[in-house]
Amino acid sequence: MLDSFGRDITYMRISVTELCNLRCRYCMPEDGVCKKSHEEMLTEDEIITAVEAAASLGIRKLRITGGEPLVKKNIISICRRAARVDGIREVCLTTNGTLLPELAKPLREAGVGRVNISLDTLDPDKYRYISRCGELSQAIDGIRAALDAGFEKVKLNAVLIGGFNDDEIPALAELTRRYPLDMRFIELMPMYDSGDFAPEAFIPYTAVTERLPELEPVCPDGGVAKLFRLPGALGNIGLISPVSAHFCRDCNRIRLTADGKIKPCLHSGDEYSLKGLDYDGMAAELRSAILCKPSWHGVLDAENRSRAGRNMNQIGG
Ligand code: 5AD
Ligand code: SF4
Repeated sequence: MLDSFGRDITYMRISVTELCNLRCRYCMPEDGVCKKSHEEMLTEDEIITAVEAAASLGIRKLRITGGEPLVKKNIISICRRAARVDGIREVCLTTNGTLLPELAKPLREAGVGRVNISLDTLDPDKYRYISRCGELSQAIDGIRAALDAGFEKVKLNAVLIGGFNDDEIPALAELTRRYPLDMRFIELMPMYDSGDFAPEAFIPYTAVTERLPELEPVCPDGGVAKLFRLPGALGNIGLISPVSAHFCRDCNRIRLTADGKIKPCLHSGDEYSLKGLDYDGMAAELRSAILCKPSWHGVLDAENRSRAGRNMNQIGG
């Protein structure tokens, strides 16, 4: 369905839980998430009804996110049922990877086509620092499991943080020469209440092209990333610039939070509640939400934080 600025909204990101087994500094506060009551959250059946209603309005692609979607105990069933909804062509998933050793194969069998896995650093100490409690080896094992499970595509996401991982840009990019995966660098977004990053932490995506002059441009694939490739590499390098060069004009997405709110824009406080509604009610709310999608997210920098009113774990990274 077209929004009021002529953008065709075909992509819904669904956060299935706010909970996570890590505490990444750019995503959530140290004391984690105040667990909302069970009754506030969408049930599995409500999530599937929301997918059916969204598909009736033209949503074709889903991304399952969190928090960490793999801590949700019925995640395989949610993915399987969502993938079978009429009109849904693609189900993707974003994860920190730590639970993929057990879940990669069942997810693939449930119909998940693509996975994005967070990997901000290759240094175990830095990984422990940025995730506040994670072990790099678990994420690496998860990446291997994803490569073995036969997904159509595996992408790694690194949030670019000046003074933290900009020195690792070449090493992270080098992974695309050794493995059939894409490496994506994402500009750090100043979220509501996550991490007090110094202004120097917010570096633009051009830091990557400056460090890697040998990058060759690749035709865009319809996504929001600017695509490049290292000579001879097996996968692409994607640069995602929500801050320095926003892609709102081409934004085709809406978001559904774990507590049932449709967010037409990541950085706006506007929300439309689907909790407790039936199929028709959800379709009507989805339609209103799409028609009210703003033209862009407004100024976003170290001084002007996101107006989402939520952290990433409560929206879906
Ligand atoms: N800025 C940029 N990306 C973020 N993510 C979470 N928080 C932020 C932020 N503040 C993204 C990361 C992570 C995914 C789950 O969400 O890419 O891999
Ligand atoms: Fe968890 Fe992902 Fe947020 Fe890190 S970025 S705390 S792994 S949801």
